[in-house]
Amino acid sequence: MSQLLTPVRIGRYMAPNRLVMAPMTRSRADGDGVPSDMTVTYYAQRASAGLIISEGVFPSAMGKGYVHTPGIETQAQVAAWKKVTEAVHARGGRIFMQVMHCGRVSHPSLLNGETPVAPSAIRPEGQAWTPVGQVDFATPRELSVLEIAGIVEDYRRATRRAIEAGFDGVELHAASGYLPEQFLSSGSNQRQDAYGGPVVNRVRFVLGVLEAMVSEAGADRVGIKISPEMNYNSITDAAPEETYTHLVDRLKGWGLAYLHVAVFGTPKVDYHALLRPRFEGTYLIGGGLTQDSAEGVLAEGKADATVFGSAFLANPDLPERFRLGATLNTPDRSTFFAPPAAKGYIDYPTLPVAERA
Ligand SMILES: Cc1cc2nc3c(=O)[nH]c(=O)nc-3n(C[C@H](O)[C@H](O)[C@H](O)COP(=O)(O)O)c2cc1C
Repeated sequence: MSQLLTPVRIGRYMAPNRLVMAPMTRSRADGDGVPSDMTVTYYAQRASAGLIISEGVFPSAMGKGYVHTPGIETQAQVAAWKKVTEAVHARGGRIFMQVMHCGRVSHPSLLNGETPVAPSAIRPEGQAWTPVGQVDFATPRELSVLEIAGIVEDYRRATRRAIEAGFDGVELHAASGYLPEQFLSSGSNQRQDAYGGPVVNRVRFVLGVLEAMVSEAGADRVGIKISPEMNYNSITDAAPEETYTHLVDRLKGWGLAYLHVAVFGTPKVDYHALLRPRFEGTYLIGGGLTQDSAEGVLAEGKADATVFGSAFLANPDLPERFRLGATLNTPDRSTFFAPPAAKGYIDYPTLPVAERA
């Protein structure tokens, strides 16, 4: 029997199905980080998801890492997001904001000439997407302890503004090699102080940020995304198994809305088997799922809900298509990040009404 289309509790909310839309950067905001009316349409089209997790949103200007990404710092940004949440709610949906500070995965041309910040001054391999095209990442500047406290406050204010903008909750992006994972991972964190060294210190930033987010939204409206061993943005950790079990163990008793674990490829460890039993709340699995594999994951009790990225991007009515066993639209990678185009953003077709009977 299908479990994908049955209700599930996600923190404070009952979601009507177990299909969560993955956070996906689409790079359609204006130069001031303000989402457009197309973004309102894009999310409203996908409101039948059990839960939408928004694209990564920078909490403060120094957290920006890609051209045309949106923020949640200015009144103009809050006002624009309000239109998004109202449209999703009008269609009966729920939407969390993913708060994403890119740290060293950035470039001065995205930061008004400032040097990107990180736990340690270690440059990642690869290139940033800037207003003038792709350029090599810069060597970041090591954050002082005082500045770290300031960034925690940035996340607190961002959460307050997200709730003010009508979001149902917030997700801490602690995956994909961005600032929180830069603190978690031994390869990017070579600090000698209370934020570096043993795992008990490397989790300090993430726990501090989560605490700040919880203080604004309440634990049952805060989730966290992790991606152990994804090694994206040249992130490396000497002992990921230890890092992530320690982190998840420390979340015991917090009552968070969910733990979102994205696993790619075949890591050395079965992270879902390792982490799910350690987390008492709703457990979300994402990364390369199909309808069949998602049903399998749910049937085996490996997760409470399943997260779909590119399939949701290309199929605004994904739950309905799964219900009917309908064919899926194919995602067009050339329009994933394409400011400010509507093509590949709000023009993926839904099923004709006749097929929906
Ligand atoms: C266009 C695109 C943008 C993405 N941007 C983000 C992002 O902003 N934050 C994030 O946590 N993951 C991001 N991801 C990763 C997805 O959340 C998800 O983990 C990934 O797509 C795997 O799911 P899938 O195989 O169902 O697509 C992005 C993925 C895609 C395809």
